[in-house]
Amino acid sequence: MKLLALELLLLLLLLSSACLLCPANSTASVLDRQADALLQWKSGLDGHGSCLNSWTKGTNTCNWTGIVCSTSDDAPGILSISLNSCGISGSLGKFWFAEFPHLQGLDLGNNSISGPIPSSIGRFVDLFDLDLSSNRFSGSIPTSLGNLTRLNSLYLSSNLLSQELSESAIGTLNSLQFLDIGNNKLTGPIPYSLGNLSTLYFLDLSFNKFSGPIPRELGMLESLISLYLLRNEITGCIPTELGMLQDLVSLDLSNNRITGFIPNLGNLTSLVSLVLSNNQITGSIP
Ligand SMILES: *[C@@H]1O[C@H](CO)[C@@H](O)[C@H](O)[C@H]1NC(C)=O
Ligand SMILES: *[C@@H]1O[C@H](CO)[C@@H](O)[C@H](O)[C@H]1NC(C)=O
Ligand SMILES: *[C@@H]1O[C@H](CO)[C@@H](O)[C@H](O)[C@H]1NC(C)=O
Ligand SMILES: *[C@@H]1O[C@H](CO)[C@@H](O)[C@H](O)[C@H]1NC(C)=O
Ligand SMILES: *[C@@H]1O[C@H](CO)[C@@H](O)[C@H](O)[C@H]1NC(C)=O
Ligand SMILES: *[C@@H]1O[C@H](CO)[C@@H](O)[C@H](O)[C@H]1NC(C)=O
Repeated sequence: MKLLALELLLLLLLLSSACLLCPANSTASVLDRQADALLQWKSGLDGHGSCLNSWTKGTNTCNWTGIVCSTSDDAPGILSISLNSCGISGSLGKFWFAEFPHLQGLDLGNNSISGPIPSSIGRFVDLFDLDLSSNRFSGSIPTSLGNLTRLNSLYLSSNLLSQELSESAIGTLNSLQFLDIGNNKLTGPIPYSLGNLSTLYFLDLSFNKFSGPIPRELGMLESLISLYLLRNEITGCIPTELGMLQDLVSLDLSNNRITGFIPNLGNLTSLVSLVLSNNQITGSIP
C-alpha cells in the first residue's frame, strides 16, 4: 500500500515537471486544441462527403484534407481550411472560432451549411480570404465582419442572407478587392461606406432587395472593374460620380427602378459591357 502511494507520488511529480518543461503555446498543443475543435464540429454535422474522412483522431492534423498548417513558430497551428464542394450539411453553431486566432483562409463554398453566420467570425482578425458562397446561410451579415480588416476577398453570394447590410460591417474592410454578396435577400440601402473600399476591383450586389439610390460614394472606388447592381429595387438617378470610374469594364444596373438621365460616361474608356435595361432611364450613351 505504501509502495503504491509512493509510486503515485512519483508519477504525479513526473507529470507536473513534464508540463513545466513544455512551452506555453507549443505548436503541438495549439494543433491538438484545433484538431479537437474541428473534430467536435465534424461530429455535430448532419452529413459530409468524403473530404472529411481523413479527419480522424490520432492522425496528423496537418495532413487532413483541406488543412494547411503554419510553418512559423510565431503563429503556430492551422493557417487555412478549404472545404469547397465537400457535401457538408449542418451549421457553424459548434465551430469553435476562438481556437483559430491566426486563420488566414476559410473556404466552405458550395456546401449545404445552414443557420446564421456566427458573429464570432469577427475573431478571425488575420483572415485574408473568406468564402461562404453557395450554402444556405440565413439571418443577417454580422457587423463583426467589420473586424476582418485584412480581408482581401469576401464571397457570401447565393445564400439566404436577409436584413440590412450594416455600414460598419463593410466600411472598415479597406484591403478588400473582391466583394460578392449577390443572390441573397438583403434589404435596405446600399451602404455608402462601400466608398471606403479603395482597393475594390469587383463588386456584386445583384439579385437582392436593396432599395434607395446608388450612393455617390461608389464613384470613389477608383480601382473598380466590375459593378453589378442588377435585379434589386434601386431608385433615383445614376449618380454622375459613376462617370469617374475610369477602369470600369462591366456595369450592369438593369432591372431596377432607376429614373432620370444617363450621366456623362465619356471618361469610362475601358467600358466593354453596359446594361441599363428595365429601368426608367432616358438619354443616350455617348
Ligand atoms: C497562448 O495562447 C493563448 C490563447 O490561444 C493566448 O491568450 C496567450 O497569450 C498565449 N501565450 C503565449 C505565451 O503566447
Ligand atoms: C501524410 O499523408 C501521406 C499520404 O497521404 C503519407 O504518405 C504521409 O506519411 C503522411 N504524413 C504524416 C506525417 O502523417
Ligand atoms: C458543388 O458541389 C457538388 C458536390 O456537392 C458538385 O457536384 C458540384 O460540381 C459543385 N459545384 C461547383 C460549381 O463547384
Ligand atoms: C474584434 O477583434 C478584437 C481583437 O482585435 C476582439 O477582441 C473582438 O472580440 C472582436 N470582435 C468580435 C465581434 O468578434
Ligand atoms: C472609412 O474608413 C475610415 C478610415 O479607414 C474609418 O475611420 C471609417 O470609420 C470608415 N467608415 C466606415 C463607415 O466604416
Ligand atoms: C473626365 O476626366 C477629366 C480628367 O480627369 C475631368 O476633368 C472631367 O471632369 C471628367 N468628366 C466627367 C464627366 O467625369
